[in-house]
Amino acid sequence: MTKLAVYPGSFDPITNGHLDLIQRGLRIFDTIIVAVAKNPAKQSLFTVEERLEMIRVAVGDKPRVKIDSFQGLLVDYVRSVNARIVLRGLRAVTDFEYEFQMNMMNRRLEPEIETVFLMTGLPWVFLSSSILKEAAVHGGNIEGMVPPYVFKQLKRKFGQE
Ligand code: PNS
Repeated sequence: MTKLAVYPGSFDPITNGHLDLIQRGLRIFDTIIVAVAKNPAKQSLFTVEERLEMIRVAVGDKPRVKIDSFQGLLVDYVRSVNARIVLRGLRAVTDFEYEFQMNMMNRRLEPEIETVFLMTGLPWVFLSSSILKEAAVHGGNIEGMVPPYVFKQLKRKFGQE
């Protein structure tokens, strides 16, 4: 049996913290599906297509990593791809409350699906897509926090080329 995990998120955009988590997740799982949530109610900087493209470029040629998007409930998507495991990263204590609540709800909705948490890599504990965008929009140097292609796309988005 191959161990398949779904790594869901907004990925608006993907950061080096996410990439670190994917890399480490591959030590545990045979295949990881990186799944971008389509949430029309949530204001995003990049379109789903742009986010998928940035993930594709950042992940590169890794046959064990698949990239997809989904709409609606995460547990329905996880079931639809015949997976049983959700992979999530945990930064400092601030993430705990939100992740705890989401995990409890997901388990209530679908008890067969388990969420596995990996601690975020130490260099990235402070990093989130939101704080990154906050720095980038004001011209902060975010080099080294995101893959090079994402760096370019952020500059383009904020008209800083
Ligand atoms: O990167 P994020 O924004 O923290 O990811 C949150 C995400 C996409 C994993 C979460 O919002 C989600 O699973 N959305 C789909 C709808 C859903 O199933 N929500 C949780 C149970 S109500």
